[in-house]
Amino acid sequence: MKKQKQTEEGTFKYSQESKDKMKKKKFYITTPIYYINDVPHIGHAYTTVIADILARWHRLKEEDVFLIVGTDENSQKTVQSSIKLGFNTPQKYADYMSEKWKETWKKLNISNDDFIRTTEERHTKLVLDFTEKVNKKKDIYKGTYSGLYCEGCEAFVTESDLNAEGLCPLHLKKPKEIQEENYFFKLSKYQNQLLRAINEKNLVHPESRKNEIINFIKQGLRDISISRQSLVWGIKFPKDEHHRFYVWFDALTNYLHPKDYWPADLQIVGKDIIKFHCIIWPAMLMSAGYKIPKKVFAHGFFTVNGQKMSKSLGNSIDPIELANKYGVDALRYYYAREIPFGNDGDFSEEQLKNRLNNELANELGNLVSRTLTIIEKNLSSEIKKDKSDKELFKNLDIKQIDKFMLDLEPHNAIAAIFHFIHSCNQYVNKKEPWKIKDKKELNKVLYNLTDAIRIISILIQPFLPETSEKIIKQLSLKENEIKLENALPGLLKDIKIKKGEILFKKIEDEGDFQNIKESDNKETILNLKVAIINKVEDHHSADKLYVLQVDLGTEKKQIVSGLKNYYKKEDLIGKSVVVLSNLKPSTLRGIRSDGMLLAADYGEKLVVLEAPKSKAGDQVFIQENIKPNKEEITIDQFLKIKIKIKNKKAICENKILHTIKEDITADIEDGASVK
Ligand code: MSP
Repeated sequence: MKKQKQTEEGTFKYSQESKDKMKKKKFYITTPIYYINDVPHIGHAYTTVIADILARWHRLKEEDVFLIVGTDENSQKTVQSSIKLGFNTPQKYADYMSEKWKETWKKLNISNDDFIRTTEERHTKLVLDFTEKVNKKKDIYKGTYSGLYCEGCEAFVTESDLNAEGLCPLHLKKPKEIQEENYFFKLSKYQNQLLRAINEKNLVHPESRKNEIINFIKQGLRDISISRQSLVWGIKFPKDEHHRFYVWFDALTNYLHPKDYWPADLQIVGKDIIKFHCIIWPAMLMSAGYKIPKKVFAHGFFTVNGQKMSKSLGNSIDPIELANKYGVDALRYYYAREIPFGNDGDFSEEQLKNRLNNELANELGNLVSRTLTIIEKNLSSEIKKDKSDKELFKNLDIKQIDKFMLDLEPHNAIAAIFHFIHSCNQYVNKKEPWKIKDKKELNKVLYNLTDAIRIISILIQPFLPETSEKIIKQLSLKENEIKLENALPGLLKDIKIKKGEILFKKIEDEGDFQNIKESDNKETILNLKVAIINKVEDHHSADKLYVLQVDLGTEKKQIVSGLKNYYKKEDLIGKSVVVLSNLKPSTLRGIRSDGMLLAADYGEKLVVLEAPKSKAGDQVFIQENIKPNKEEITIDQFLKIKIKIKNKKAICENKILHTIKEDITADIEDGASVK
């Protein structure tokens, strides 16, 4: 009896154990949550695409993967941008912008499992719960802080962070001297614990960043302020109405949302925010009694023509435009292949195009197309299972590719996959299947090539999901066959192929490229006119808005505009400005606005576009011979059009905006963007 019981227990234990073994390995990966003061540029998309590639790789290994992305909405920048763009409330603006970010990730095929918005109720609750835990540890106290504060970074900075001119090197702005009573978090208390964790647990990657963080901590950590008094936006501090959370304490907490998945296995960040993620964040977690992340990886930055890319400098490139022009997979491929993950790099559209033509189209596209064409022609689209040819697969080392991915070297992994693709093309050249008369021999060569293509379709899935899917369809594979375990030669059964359209279109001549024509047409959607400002009044309920009465020659319009912080009323009256006259009317805080006054924005400056020699109602042209649009457009359509300032002139798609008398001007720095 006793024995039987033991056996039963034993059996139970065993089955429990084997169940646990069968339980999928967890892989929780995060990206930073992005500020919503602008739409995504190719730098943000880089972080997100690489995180997505890594997440998809782990899914290919049948792990329990969770990828989160999101938007950081409680920042002061949200308020500033909502006013500039004339939204009724910061929340409305946040709702609008978070959609833009969601749309971008959808377009780029990001397979996120959640999208965190920090204005969501669930987030406020999480931040308050978290703060209570830290408070219980007695790690929060009230104190006075005075220091240099960069609004762009939303952080206090030290003299040593600034450039020779005393400006923040990232935002090119002079930090403000701030003194106020704040709540503080006892960061200094965690100095030794942090050093131990970084050394023993190998938190920071790559190695060079680890040294940077260790040196920084060793210089001595100061407590950090986690609340502000002057804010009108953001999560309210518990039990103290006058304070709101300083955005970083709130933002970092977002990573705890998928609580069953914490600790994160990998947190991907840009090198600009590594101190927040490798010092403040782990200390916050230690205080609140959570585990720290297993790994934080900081990658490098993209520059454009050697220049730092930033929202305030106005030189950002829209990833959607690139995806529309070259295809989503070409952009994803470029990101993974071009720059060793961790390094900085200069973005080059030319190089993206070269890689699309020479590697995607000439190597991968060509291999699939020539193989399937011969099968279609010479074997009536049917392939029978055959013996594997070692010669073909000797250039494929799956273990090595997997190791590259686990070591966070996606550039090496994709290079190895393309090395195999290249060797498959060489195999075709050597075997010359079009010359093989014997059907059996032909089947063997083509079976092996098709099997290689099947394996390739698995391996490229994380990098080129759209292309992988196209190949899978052509080989009639099933979705559940797409896993790394199946990336072994010889698993292909008898199949009937369904040859599809070519995988990649080469870009030879930009002139006949449809999307370029489309972008030319974009200019025609605007109807810009010169307007003279006749009257300026305060908005009755919004302290940053003016209500303007403007004269457009044949008609008069009322426009609500966020100029109050930048212009005195008397300085605006009589000015010849530029108005977007075909914008759909809207109501801003209860007052109707029939258009939009164009202004250029650079850091803290906002300057209206002017045409002093022109008459009220004069047409503003972007290109000659194009009739201005009479139809109404939405703010969405307008925001897609980029107008920038160069040499004090307004430029759109390399052309100067002008009336018949003069060019449109704005007295502001190069790169300022018009909104
Ligand atoms: N909201 C904070 C992050 C909070 S995370 C709890 C923030 N947002 S951000 O919109 O400024 O985005 C920062 C991230 O965008 C960088 O860390 C980096 O991952 C990415 N990049 C922004 N510009 C980039 C380049 N030029 N190149 C590469 N990545 C870039 O900071």
